[in-house]
Amino acid sequence: MSEGHSTYTPKTGVGRWFDARLPLPRLVYDSFIAYPVPRNLNYAWTFGGILSIMLVAQILTGIVLAMHYTSDTNLAFNSVEKIMRDVNDGWMLRYLHSNGASFFFIAVYVHIFRGLYYGSYKAPRELLWILGCIIYLLMMATGFMGYVLPWGQMSFWGATVITGFFTAIPLVGDWIQQLLLGGFAVDNPTLNRFFALHYLLPFMIAGVVVLHIWALHVVGQSNPTGIEVKSKTDTVAFTPYATIKDALGMIVFLLFFAYFVFYMPNYLGHPDNYTIANPLKTPAHIVPEWYFLPFYAILRAITFNIGPINSKLGGVLAMFGAIAMLFIVPWLDTSKVRSAVYRPWYKLFFWLFAANCIMLGWLGSRPAEGSYVVMAQLCTLFYFAFFLIVLPVLGLIETPRRLPNSITEAVLEKNKGGSGHPAGATASPETKG
Ligand code: HEM
Repeated sequence: MSEGHSTYTPKTGVGRWFDARLPLPRLVYDSFIAYPVPRNLNYAWTFGGILSIMLVAQILTGIVLAMHYTSDTNLAFNSVEKIMRDVNDGWMLRYLHSNGASFFFIAVYVHIFRGLYYGSYKAPRELLWILGCIIYLLMMATGFMGYVLPWGQMSFWGATVITGFFTAIPLVGDWIQQLLLGGFAVDNPTLNRFFALHYLLPFMIAGVVVLHIWALHVVGQSNPTGIEVKSKTDTVAFTPYATIKDALGMIVFLLFFAYFVFYMPNYLGHPDNYTIANPLKTPAHIVPEWYFLPFYAILRAITFNIGPINSKLGGVLAMFGAIAMLFIVPWLDTSKVRSAVYRPWYKLFFWLFAANCIMLGWLGSRPAEGSYVVMAQLCTLFYFAFFLIVLPVLGLIETPRRLPNSITEAVLEKNKGGSGHPAGATASPETKG
């Protein structure tokens, strides 16, 4: 799709001069204006764009917050209170940033589940997918470290619990923990290095996003049918078709975001974090932010020793294993058909898997006792079974539905099905590229 040569023709003398020296406008034109995209992309494909603006928003609000924040255990909590009360619009900046993290994760989860549903990770998009997984890992590290900065009770105890799990790793565990903490307990050096890394990582994310989008432009976008583009009539130009759709998706998403920021800014946070960190007083329940809860549930589900592996190490391995599954998805799925639209059994298992992840999230917020533990163990089992059994086996035994011959055929068939438009009306919007 992307190997088509450039159609950019600068109209002014200055434009031609520039183009001969640094063809940046040509790059933008070829990538975001004339770039051909499948004509059947639905709103699930607007989340890449939504993620891009959320990343920019997080970086901008974060930089201004950093101008007023102090990463010293004696001052951090009060510096955040000062931002909320004394800095002009500081409350808004902080709520935009803290809720922005949550909405960034909402968008990334939709984006990942979209990929799983439509099989976007399959060849030739494996590397694109893996770059996405790296972004996701970096996002988790950034979110975790950011939560420590306000130096509230949950900041302190969350950091203590999570870094404590690293000690379960044989030989190097203690060393890793001390490296993370800058000492033997969560303290000033911890806060300082978390602040430094929390500032650095978003720029690394931005770098990997550039690679992600570069890889996307090499292989081209997939689409709800999962069939590759075969002719010019299968595509439309990125602008105006995809730009308008992306813009509408962003506006609706930002409205939800604004609702949280202005009407329920603390809904996704934890009240304990409005109490200053106290190393002598452990909160009744230590819970991480909502977007880590499914993995937290998996971590705590392993309450038994597995041979030489004790339960603590087992939990850590299960948690990292759960994330590692995502990296190898392209090789676990054996189906020749990409999209769940044509895979009835996969579609069923996909929704079960999604429900299972939500259940794990809920279980992660409960105390690790009684039936909650048993339920978390069953959900963990299903989580791994989905990747290690369902994906490889289903691809071999499932009979997919008949695939259309092309994207255009799929669109026309759908229109015949009663969208109200005559089929011919949308038959061949020309690609400018
Ligand atoms: C900051 C985070 C991210 C940004 C800014 C981003 C950006 C984008 C953009 C702009 C697109 C094209 C539009 C679209 O398909 O929605 C895209 C596609 C894609 N992304 Fe991401 N992405 C991010 C994270 C991820 C993650 C975490 C994964 C997976 C683990 C992922 C996997 C993919 C895949 C497979 C595609 C191709 C989809 C297709 O064409 O069917 N991305 N991304």
